[in-house]
Amino acid sequence: MTRFILDSGNPDDYRTTLELFNNNDQTLWGSTTNPSLIAKKLAEDGHKLTLQKAFDLQKDIIKEILTIVPGAVSAEVYADNSTTSEDMIKQGKEIVKWDERVVIKLPTTIEGFKARTQLRKENVVTNNTLVFSQQQIYAICLHEHLLQNEFQVKGKWPCFISPFLGRLDDIGEDGITLVRNGMELKKHFTEELWMLSASIRSTSHLKACIELGSELITAPLSVYKDWLEGSAQPIQEQKLVSLDRWEVPTQVKEIQTLDNFFEAIENKTLDISHPLTDKGVDKFTKDWKAILT
Ligand code: E4P
Repeated sequence: MTRFILDSGNPDDYRTTLELFNNNDQTLWGSTTNPSLIAKKLAEDGHKLTLQKAFDLQKDIIKEILTIVPGAVSAEVYADNSTTSEDMIKQGKEIVKWDERVVIKLPTTIEGFKARTQLRKENVVTNNTLVFSQQQIYAICLHEHLLQNEFQVKGKWPCFISPFLGRLDDIGEDGITLVRNGMELKKHFTEELWMLSASIRSTSHLKACIELGSELITAPLSVYKDWLEGSAQPIQEQKLVSLDRWEVPTQVKEIQTLDNFFEAIENKTLDISHPLTDKGVDKFTKDWKAILT
């Protein structure tokens, strides 16, 4: 069963989507936000904000969304290229205090994985964001597997993996094939993780992800409207390259400890780098900084 999530930083969008879902016998389960979406909402009144004020207002937005949706609400840590894992951990620990349904979004980078180690040890549910490759998906599953083995970590829900379909399509690669291959990679592990298909741009994305069994899907209000109200959308033919299935190298299959895991991602035996992850981090940073004094 797929659970539906709204991708927005605006509580009004949640009220509108909730009504749309209710009118169509569907359930709106949760929320995803990110620094760009929150910044867009905070920029509405045209005033620049101090970092503390922006953080406080983000908290108010998340709290309001929590009153509208019954499930998980993802809030992202601020992370630019120089943000350390310690800083992400500090922010994550602060944000989870807001509510037991808040899930911490972390970038899928080496520092992000270090932060994930500590937050998971404290049983925080995490959402790995800016995922663009099968290596990244495998790394998230493996990291969770090693943590559960070594520290018996748990959480209110399984952790989330967020592949960004639309942004892959933008560079001519078929984002749906990432979800398809990713769902297969997940089967290498007994630990449960939820695929949260993100950066959804069309009803065809949405329908394909439902068919693939993506446990969660996040989409903007416009896509849900097209889907549930059946508004006619001109179909734009886009030639996309399918992503071939990535075969897990033997060396990677042999990783059995967290220390070996971190060695492998540092020396790129398990290469978790992706140019769109870096670009995504830069965009979130730029949008967030634009609203600050
Ligand atoms: C998901 O959590 C992200 O907020 C989102 O889906 C990004 O979508 P975009 O590529 O349309 O910005």
